[in-house]
Amino acid sequence: MNAFLLTLALLFITQTLAYQRNVPTMPDNIAGGRTARLGEFPHYVGFVKPDGSKLYCGGGLINKNWILTAAHCIKETPNQQVFIGKNNWKNKTQGLILKMKRSFYHKNYDPITVINDIGLVELYEDIPEDPAKNIRYMELETTERPLRALVTACGWGLTEKSETEAPDDLRTVDLPIVEGEKCFAHGLFLNETMICIGDGDRKDTCYGDSGGPVVRRSKVNQRWIAVGITSYGGLICGAEGSRGTYTKIKSYLDWLDSLNVTYIKASS
Ligand SMILES: *[C@@H]1O[C@H](CO)[C@@H](O)[C@H](O)[C@H]1NC(C)=O
Ligand SMILES: *[C@@H]1O[C@H](CO)[C@@H](O)[C@H](O)[C@H]1NC(C)=O
Ligand SMILES: *[C@@H]1O[C@H](CO)[C@@H](O)[C@H](O)[C@H]1NC(C)=O
Repeated sequence: MNAFLLTLALLFITQTLAYQRNVPTMPDNIAGGRTARLGEFPHYVGFVKPDGSKLYCGGGLINKNWILTAAHCIKETPNQQVFIGKNNWKNKTQGLILKMKRSFYHKNYDPITVINDIGLVELYEDIPEDPAKNIRYMELETTERPLRALVTACGWGLTEKSETEAPDDLRTVDLPIVEGEKCFAHGLFLNETMICIGDGDRKDTCYGDSGGPVVRRSKVNQRWIAVGITSYGGLICGAEGSRGTYTKIKSYLDWLDSLNVTYIKASS
Protein backbone atom coordinates (compact mmCIF):
# COMPACT_ATOMS: atom_id res chain seq x y z
CA MET A 1 0.00 0.00 0.00
CA ASN A 2 1.51 3.34 -0.94
CA ALA A 3 1.39 6.49 1.14
CA PHE A 4 -1.39 8.07 -0.90
CA LEU A 5 -3.74 5.17 -0.35
CA LEU A 6 -2.76 4.88 3.28
CA THR A 7 -3.64 8.52 3.87
CA LEU A 8 -6.95 8.03 2.14
CA ALA A 9 -7.55 4.90 4.20
CA LEU A 10 -7.05 6.76 7.46
CA LEU A 11 -9.19 9.63 6.25
CA PHE A 12 -12.02 7.34 5.26
CA ILE A 13 -11.97 5.07 8.25
CA THR A 14 -12.90 8.07 10.34
CA GLN A 15 -15.92 8.74 8.14
CA THR A 16 -17.18 5.44 6.85
CA LEU A 17 -16.06 1.89 6.49
CA ALA A 18 -17.33 1.67 2.95
CA TYR A 19 -15.51 3.01 -0.06
CA GLN A 20 -18.03 4.22 -2.56
CA ARG A 21 -16.95 3.68 -6.10
CA ASN A 22 -17.42 7.12 -7.60
CA VAL A 23 -14.82 9.73 -8.51
CA PRO A 24 -15.43 12.84 -6.38
CA THR A 25 -14.34 11.22 -3.13
CA MET A 26 -11.63 9.05 -4.60
CA PRO A 27 -10.40 7.98 -7.97
CA ASP A 28 -13.69 4.78 -9.23
CA ASN A 29 -12.84 1.73 -12.73
CA ILE A 30 -12.73 -1.80 -13.84
CA ALA A 31 -9.79 -3.94 -12.82
CA GLY A 32 -8.83 -7.10 -14.68
CA GLY A 33 -11.25 -6.57 -17.58
CA ARG A 34 -11.14 -5.79 -21.30
CA THR A 35 -12.18 -2.89 -23.52
CA ALA A 36 -15.84 -3.01 -24.59
CA ARG A 37 -16.93 -2.83 -28.21
CA LEU A 38 -18.91 0.20 -29.40
CA GLY A 39 -22.59 -0.68 -28.92
CA GLU A 40 -21.94 -3.65 -26.65
CA PHE A 41 -23.70 -2.01 -23.67
CA PRO A 42 -26.35 0.20 -25.32
CA HIS A 43 -28.11 0.96 -22.01
CA TYR A 44 -24.98 2.27 -20.31
CA VAL A 45 -24.72 5.97 -19.51
CA GLY A 46 -21.78 7.99 -18.21
CA PHE A 47 -22.04 10.92 -15.80
CA VAL A 48 -19.63 13.77 -16.50
CA LYS A 49 -18.73 16.50 -14.06
CA PRO A 50 -20.31 19.87 -14.93
CA ASP A 51 -17.01 21.22 -16.29
CA GLY A 52 -16.70 18.20 -18.61
CA SER A 53 -13.32 17.28 -17.15
CA LYS A 54 -14.07 13.92 -15.68
CA LEU A 55 -16.39 10.97 -15.74
CA TYR A 56 -17.28 9.88 -12.28
CA CYS A 57 -20.28 7.55 -12.32
CA GLY A 58 -22.39 5.31 -14.53
CA GLY A 59 -26.05 4.41 -14.85
CA GLY A 60 -28.45 2.46 -17.04
CA LEU A 61 -31.39 3.57 -19.21
CA ILE A 62 -34.54 1.68 -18.12
CA ASN A 63 -37.12 3.35 -20.35
CA LYS A 64 -37.39 6.36 -22.65
CA ASN A 65 -36.66 8.95 -19.99
CA TRP A 66 -35.35 7.37 -16.78
CA ILE A 67 -31.84 6.35 -15.76
CA LEU A 68 -31.21 4.06 -12.81
CA THR A 69 -28.04 4.75 -10.81
CA ALA A 70 -26.61 4.80 -7.27
CA ALA A 71 -27.83 7.27 -4.63
CA HIS A 72 -24.30 8.43 -3.86
CA CYS A 73 -23.73 9.41 -7.51
CA ILE A 74 -26.63 11.86 -7.29
CA LYS A 75 -26.06 13.06 -3.74
CA GLU A 76 -22.51 14.25 -4.32
CA THR A 77 -22.84 15.88 -7.75
CA PRO A 78 -26.47 16.68 -8.49
CA ASN A 79 -26.05 18.56 -11.78
CA GLN A 80 -24.09 16.81 -14.43
CA GLN A 81 -24.10 15.89 -18.07
CA VAL A 82 -25.09 12.37 -18.97
CA PHE A 83 -24.26 10.59 -22.21
CA ILE A 84 -25.19 7.31 -23.86
CA GLY A 85 -24.06 5.26 -26.85
CA LYS A 86 -20.36 5.92 -26.38
CA ASN A 87 -17.38 3.65 -26.09
CA ASN A 88 -14.64 6.29 -26.03
CA TRP A 89 -16.22 8.95 -23.84
CA LYS A 90 -14.11 11.72 -25.34
CA ASN A 91 -15.14 10.86 -28.91
CA LYS A 92 -17.71 13.51 -29.88
CA THR A 93 -19.06 11.62 -32.88
CA GLN A 94 -20.23 8.70 -30.76
CA GLY A 95 -23.56 8.68 -28.91
CA LEU A 96 -25.76 11.42 -27.48
CA ILE A 97 -25.50 13.96 -24.67
CA LEU A 98 -28.66 13.81 -22.58
CA LYS A 99 -30.16 16.68 -20.59
CA MET A 100 -31.24 15.99 -17.04
CA LYS A 101 -34.62 17.22 -15.86
CA ARG A 102 -34.27 16.13 -12.23
CA SER A 103 -32.66 13.51 -10.09
CA PHE A 104 -33.35 12.06 -6.66
CA TYR A 105 -32.38 9.11 -4.54
CA HIS A 106 -34.01 6.73 -2.08
CA LYS A 107 -35.22 8.66 0.96
CA ASN A 108 -33.74 6.04 3.30
CA TYR A 109 -30.32 6.04 1.67
CA ASP A 110 -27.71 5.91 4.43
CA PRO A 111 -24.20 6.99 3.44
CA ILE A 112 -22.63 5.19 6.40
CA THR A 113 -24.10 1.70 5.88
CA VAL A 114 -24.66 2.49 2.17
CA ILE A 115 -28.07 0.88 2.50
CA ASN A 116 -30.57 1.85 -0.25
CA ASP A 117 -27.85 3.10 -2.58
CA ILE A 118 -30.22 3.67 -5.49
CA GLY A 119 -31.38 6.75 -7.35
CA LEU A 120 -33.01 7.96 -10.52
CA VAL A 121 -32.37 10.60 -13.15
CA GLU A 122 -35.22 11.85 -15.29
CA LEU A 123 -34.37 13.14 -18.77
CA TYR A 124 -35.90 16.15 -20.49
CA GLU A 125 -36.38 14.43 -23.79
CA ASP A 126 -37.64 10.99 -24.65
CA ILE A 127 -34.83 8.79 -25.93
CA PRO A 128 -36.14 6.13 -28.29
CA GLU A 129 -34.26 2.88 -28.71
CA ASP A 130 -32.06 3.15 -31.76
CA PRO A 131 -29.59 0.47 -32.88
CA ALA A 132 -27.85 2.96 -35.17
CA LYS A 133 -27.06 5.17 -32.18
CA ASN A 134 -26.32 2.23 -29.88
CA ILE A 135 -29.23 2.94 -27.56
CA ARG A 136 -31.33 0.21 -25.98
CA TYR A 137 -33.14 -0.05 -22.62
CA MET A 138 -32.05 -2.61 -20.07
CA GLU A 139 -34.48 -4.98 -18.40
CA LEU A 140 -34.61 -5.36 -14.61
CA GLU A 141 -34.05 -8.60 -12.71
CA THR A 142 -37.13 -10.01 -10.95
CA THR A 143 -35.78 -13.25 -9.46
CA GLU A 144 -32.97 -14.23 -7.12
CA ARG A 145 -29.76 -15.06 -9.00
CA PRO A 146 -27.94 -18.20 -7.86
CA LEU A 147 -24.50 -18.14 -6.28
CA ARG A 148 -21.70 -18.43 -8.84
CA ALA A 149 -23.91 -16.96 -11.59
CA LEU A 150 -21.84 -14.57 -13.69
CA VAL A 151 -22.72 -10.95 -14.19
CA THR A 152 -21.03 -8.38 -16.41
CA ALA A 153 -19.87 -5.04 -15.02
CA CYS A 154 -18.66 -2.13 -17.06
CA GLY A 155 -17.42 1.38 -16.55
CA TRP A 156 -14.87 4.05 -17.30
CA GLY A 157 -13.46 3.77 -13.77
CA LEU A 158 -9.85 3.18 -12.80
CA THR A 159 -8.05 0.06 -13.95
CA GLU A 160 -5.28 -2.01 -12.44
CA LYS A 161 -2.87 -0.04 -14.64
CA SER A 162 -3.29 3.25 -12.82
CA GLU A 163 -4.44 4.48 -9.44
CA THR A 164 -5.34 7.92 -10.69
CA GLU A 165 -5.87 7.94 -14.46
CA ALA A 166 -9.14 6.51 -15.77
CA PRO A 167 -9.29 5.10 -19.33
CA ASP A 168 -11.09 6.78 -22.25
CA ASP A 169 -12.60 3.51 -23.49
CA LEU A 170 -15.38 1.67 -21.67
CA ARG A 171 -14.07 -1.43 -19.90
CA THR A 172 -15.94 -4.59 -18.96
CA VAL A 173 -15.39 -7.62 -16.77
CA ASP A 174 -17.38 -10.78 -15.91
CA LEU A 175 -17.71 -11.50 -12.19
CA PRO A 176 -19.47 -14.20 -10.13
CA ILE A 177 -22.10 -13.61 -7.45
CA VAL A 178 -20.70 -14.92 -4.17
CA GLU A 179 -21.87 -15.43 -0.58
CA GLY A 180 -22.63 -12.22 1.32
CA GLU A 181 -20.25 -13.25 4.11
CA LYS A 182 -17.36 -12.81 1.70
CA CYS A 183 -18.13 -9.08 1.54
CA PHE A 184 -18.97 -8.94 5.22
CA ALA A 185 -15.63 -10.49 6.08
CA HIS A 186 -14.10 -7.60 4.20
CA GLY A 187 -15.65 -5.09 6.55
CA LEU A 188 -18.48 -4.37 4.16
CA PHE A 189 -21.94 -4.24 5.62
CA LEU A 190 -24.40 -6.49 3.88
CA ASN A 191 -28.00 -7.61 4.04
CA GLU A 192 -30.39 -9.08 1.52
CA THR A 193 -30.86 -5.80 -0.31
CA MET A 194 -27.22 -6.03 -1.40
CA ILE A 195 -25.27 -8.53 -3.50
CA CYS A 196 -21.64 -9.50 -2.99
CA ILE A 197 -19.83 -9.91 -6.31
CA GLY A 198 -16.32 -11.02 -7.21
CA ASP A 199 -13.96 -13.89 -6.51
CA GLY A 200 -11.26 -11.70 -5.01
CA ASP A 201 -9.05 -12.75 -7.95
CA ARG A 202 -8.12 -9.20 -8.96
CA LYS A 203 -11.17 -8.78 -11.19
CA ASP A 204 -13.31 -6.02 -9.70
CA THR A 205 -15.12 -2.77 -10.26
CA CYS A 206 -13.35 0.38 -9.06
CA TYR A 207 -13.60 4.11 -8.45
CA GLY A 208 -15.62 5.69 -11.29
CA ASP A 209 -17.79 2.62 -11.92
CA SER A 210 -20.37 3.51 -9.25
CA GLY A 211 -23.98 3.65 -10.32
CA GLY A 212 -23.41 1.46 -13.37
CA PRO A 213 -25.54 -1.66 -13.65
CA VAL A 214 -24.11 -5.18 -13.51
CA VAL A 215 -26.02 -7.19 -16.07
CA ARG A 216 -26.69 -10.60 -17.55
CA ARG A 217 -27.83 -11.37 -21.07
CA SER A 218 -31.46 -12.36 -21.73
CA LYS A 219 -31.72 -15.71 -23.46
CA VAL A 220 -34.91 -14.59 -25.18
CA ASN A 221 -34.13 -11.28 -26.83
CA GLN A 222 -30.43 -10.57 -26.24
CA ARG A 223 -31.27 -7.55 -24.12
CA TRP A 224 -29.16 -6.94 -21.02
CA ILE A 225 -30.89 -7.54 -17.70
CA ALA A 226 -29.68 -5.41 -14.77
CA VAL A 227 -29.08 -7.45 -11.61
CA GLY A 228 -27.25 -4.94 -9.42
CA ILE A 229 -25.89 -1.41 -9.19
CA THR A 230 -22.20 -0.82 -8.45
CA SER A 231 -22.10 0.65 -4.94
CA TYR A 232 -18.96 0.18 -2.88
CA GLY A 233 -16.10 -2.15 -2.22
CA GLY A 234 -12.72 -2.76 -0.71
CA LEU A 235 -10.39 0.23 -0.50
CA ILE A 236 -7.95 -1.03 -3.11
CA CYS A 237 -10.11 -2.29 -5.93
CA GLY A 238 -8.70 -5.19 -7.88
CA ALA A 239 -6.37 -6.13 -5.04
CA GLU A 240 -6.16 -9.79 -4.08
CA GLY A 241 -9.34 -10.54 -2.08
CA SER A 242 -11.09 -7.27 -2.98
CA ARG A 243 -14.78 -7.60 -3.80
CA GLY A 244 -17.68 -5.27 -4.35
CA THR A 245 -21.07 -4.78 -2.80
CA TYR A 246 -23.88 -3.98 -5.21
CA THR A 247 -27.44 -2.76 -4.69
CA LYS A 248 -29.80 -5.64 -5.47
CA ILE A 249 -32.25 -4.25 -8.02
CA LYS A 250 -34.87 -6.93 -7.35
CA SER A 251 -35.29 -5.47 -3.82
CA TYR A 252 -36.28 -2.08 -5.25
CA LEU A 253 -38.90 -2.94 -7.86
CA ASP A 254 -41.62 -1.95 -5.37
CA TRP A 255 -39.84 1.36 -4.90
CA LEU A 256 -39.91 1.98 -8.66
CA ASP A 257 -43.58 0.97 -8.74
CA SER A 258 -44.37 3.39 -5.91
CA LEU A 259 -42.83 6.19 -7.98
CA ASN A 260 -44.75 5.17 -11.09
CA VAL A 261 -41.48 4.67 -12.94
CA THR A 262 -41.98 2.00 -15.58
CA TYR A 263 -39.42 -0.61 -16.54
CA ILE A 264 -39.13 -3.82 -18.52
CA LYS A 265 -39.19 -6.96 -16.40
CA ALA A 266 -36.52 -9.57 -17.10
CA SER A 267 -37.63 -11.66 -20.06
CA SER A 268 -35.90 -14.86 -18.92
C1 LIG B 1 -14.85 8.25 -33.01
O1 LIG B 1 -15.78 7.23 -33.20
C2 LIG B 1 -16.09 6.96 -34.56
C3 LIG B 1 -17.23 5.95 -34.58
O2 LIG B 1 -16.87 4.79 -33.87
C4 LIG B 1 -14.83 6.45 -35.26
O3 LIG B 1 -15.11 6.19 -36.63
C5 LIG B 1 -13.74 7.50 -35.14
O4 LIG B 1 -12.53 6.99 -35.67
C6 LIG B 1 -13.53 7.87 -33.68
N1 LIG B 1 -12.62 9.01 -33.61
C7 LIG B 1 -11.52 9.00 -32.87
C8 LIG B 1 -10.73 10.26 -32.86
O5 LIG B 1 -11.15 8.02 -32.24
C1 LIG C 1 -31.03 -3.92 5.65
O1 LIG C 1 -30.35 -3.15 6.65
C2 LIG C 1 -30.85 -1.84 6.83
C3 LIG C 1 -29.95 -1.13 7.80
O2 LIG C 1 -29.87 -1.81 9.01
C4 LIG C 1 -32.31 -1.88 7.27
O3 LIG C 1 -32.80 -0.56 7.37
C5 LIG C 1 -33.12 -2.65 6.24
O4 LIG C 1 -34.45 -2.78 6.69
C6 LIG C 1 -32.52 -4.01 6.01
N1 LIG C 1 -33.24 -4.64 4.92
C7 LIG C 1 -33.89 -5.74 5.07
C8 LIG C 1 -34.64 -6.23 3.87
O5 LIG C 1 -33.88 -6.37 6.12
C1 LIG D 1 -48.65 7.04 -9.03
O1 LIG D 1 -49.88 6.88 -9.73
C2 LIG D 1 -50.99 6.74 -8.83
C3 LIG D 1 -52.21 6.39 -9.68
O2 LIG D 1 -52.31 7.23 -10.80
C4 LIG D 1 -51.16 8.03 -8.04
O3 LIG D 1 -52.22 7.88 -7.13
C5 LIG D 1 -49.88 8.30 -7.25
O4 LIG D 1 -49.96 9.53 -6.58
C6 LIG D 1 -48.66 8.31 -8.17
N1 LIG D 1 -47.46 8.38 -7.36
C7 LIG D 1 -46.46 9.21 -7.66
C8 LIG D 1 -45.31 9.17 -6.73
O5 LIG D 1 -46.48 9.97 -8.61
